[in-house]
Amino acid sequence: MLTNDQLAQWDRENFFHPSTHLAQFARGEAPQRIVTGGEGVFITDRDGNRLLDAFAGLYCVNVGYGRQEVAEAIAKQARELAYYHAYVGHGTEASITLAKMILDRAPSNMSKVYFGLSGSDANETNIKLVWYYNNVRGLPQKKKIISRWRGYHGSGLMTGSLTGLDLFHKKFDLPLSQVIHTEAPYYYRRTDAAMSEEDFSTHCAAELEKLILAEGPDTVAAFIGEPALGTGGLVPPPAGYWKKIQAVLAKYDILLIADEVVTGFGRLGSMFGSDHYGIEADFITIAKGLTSAYAPLSGSIVSDKVWKVLEQGTDEYGSLGHGWTYSAHPISAAAGVANLKLVDDMGLVANAGVIGAYLRDSLRTSLGGHGNVGDVRGEGLMIAVELVEDSAARTFYSPAGSVSGKVVSAMLKRGVIARAMPQGDIIGIAPPLCLTHAEADRIAEALTEAVTEVLG
Ligand SMILES: Cc1ncc(COP(=O)(O)O)c(C=O)c1O
Repeated sequence: MLTNDQLAQWDRENFFHPSTHLAQFARGEAPQRIVTGGEGVFITDRDGNRLLDAFAGLYCVNVGYGRQEVAEAIAKQARELAYYHAYVGHGTEASITLAKMILDRAPSNMSKVYFGLSGSDANETNIKLVWYYNNVRGLPQKKKIISRWRGYHGSGLMTGSLTGLDLFHKKFDLPLSQVIHTEAPYYYRRTDAAMSEEDFSTHCAAELEKLILAEGPDTVAAFIGEPALGTGGLVPPPAGYWKKIQAVLAKYDILLIADEVVTGFGRLGSMFGSDHYGIEADFITIAKGLTSAYAPLSGSIVSDKVWKVLEQGTDEYGSLGHGWTYSAHPISAAAGVANLKLVDDMGLVANAGVIGAYLRDSLRTSLGGHGNVGDVRGEGLMIAVELVEDSAARTFYSPAGSVSGKVVSAMLKRGVIARAMPQGDIIGIAPPLCLTHAEADRIAEALTEAVTEVLG
C-alpha cells in the first residue's frame, strides 16, 4: 500500500524514464503506471488494477512474480554478505555455484561465464573479447561485427550500434563504423512472395556472404544474432537459417555470438535457443531469465575455443583489463541460483513449449482469418500477431505503428498487458513461463476482442 499521494507528480518532475516520449510524459499526456505488487503472472498498481502481464515485464520475469524462494535467497545473501568483488580470483559461494549451474545447462562446447549486470554490458564484453581474441591471434585488422537489421542487442554505444532498429540510431550518431548490418531473417516480410522458407534462408546466407566479400573477409571478426528475433518483431528463423548462416561464418573464420538474453533458460521451450536451432556459438549472451529479473545479472558464456586464446593472451600480455565493480554481485548470484532451481522444480522449460504452442494455435484459430491479421507466429512463449492493412495483399500500415498501440490499449482495458513492438504493427506476447491454460485463454480472448474492437 502506497502512502505518498504526490508520487505521480514527483514522477513527472524528477524521473527520467527509459524508452519514453519525454516531452509528452512531462506534460502529463503519456501513460503513467505506478506498480505496487506482483504474484504469479499478475501485477497490481496503485490505482487498484490487477493486470495479467503477458509480457513478463520486459520478457524477463520467467518464474513469475512473488516467488518467495528467490526473495528469501536474496535476503539471506544480503544478511550474510551483501557484497564482495570478483577481481583477481575472488568469489562467493553463490557466484561460483551459479557459474557451474550455467555451464551444466549450456551447450557442451562452452567453457566459462563472465558475469555482468545487463544484456547490454554482456554484449559489450563479448565485442571487447572478440577484438582481444583477434589481436592475440595476430589478426589486428579482423574487427568488424555483422549484426542483422531488426536485431536487438542493447542500447549502449556498441550495443546500440549492433541493434538494427532505426529508433536506437536516430540522432545518436549510431551505428559506429565497426558495425555493419545484414538482412533480417524475417520470412513474413520477404519481398518475393513465391520464396519457400528454405529459399529465403539460402537468400539470407547469400546476402551475408556478399557482405563479407564486399567488406573483405579478413576484416570481419564476428556475427551476432538472437536465435529468434525479439524486439525486432518476435520472429522465429525460417527453416534451415542457422545451418546456412553457420556454414558461411565457418568458411571465413568469423565468430558467432548467440544473443540469448531473451531465449536463454527456457523461453522457446528448450533450455537455450542454441539447443533449439542447432547453433554452435563461440559466445552466448545471457541475462533476463538468469534471475527472472529478481536482481540484475547477465553473463557472457565463452567457448573452449575462445577461452584457450584468452588464456594465451594473459600469458603474453598480463591480466585481462576488463571488469565491473558489480561483476558477479553476490545478491544477484544468489537470486540466480534460486531462480534456476525454481525453473527446474516447476518444469518451466517444458511448460513454455506446451503452453506456447497452445496459445499460438488458439490465436491462429481465433484471428487467422481476419483480414488485418497477416501473421500469427511463435516458438514457445515468444508469440507475435502482426497486423496489416490487407492480409491477402500483404500490405503494411503506414505510418508503421499506427494500429498496434490501439490494440494494446484495448487489451489493457480487458486487464491484459501486451507490448506494441517498436518497429511495425506487431503485438508481442511473452508471458512468464509458468502460464497456465486458463491464463493463456484469457490472453487469447483479450487479444481477439481487442483486434475486433479496433479493426472490426
Ligand atoms: C536479445 C537482447 N539482447 C540484449 C538486450 C539488452 O539487455 P539490457 O536491456 O539488460 O541491457 C536485450 C533487451 O531486451 C535483448 O532482448
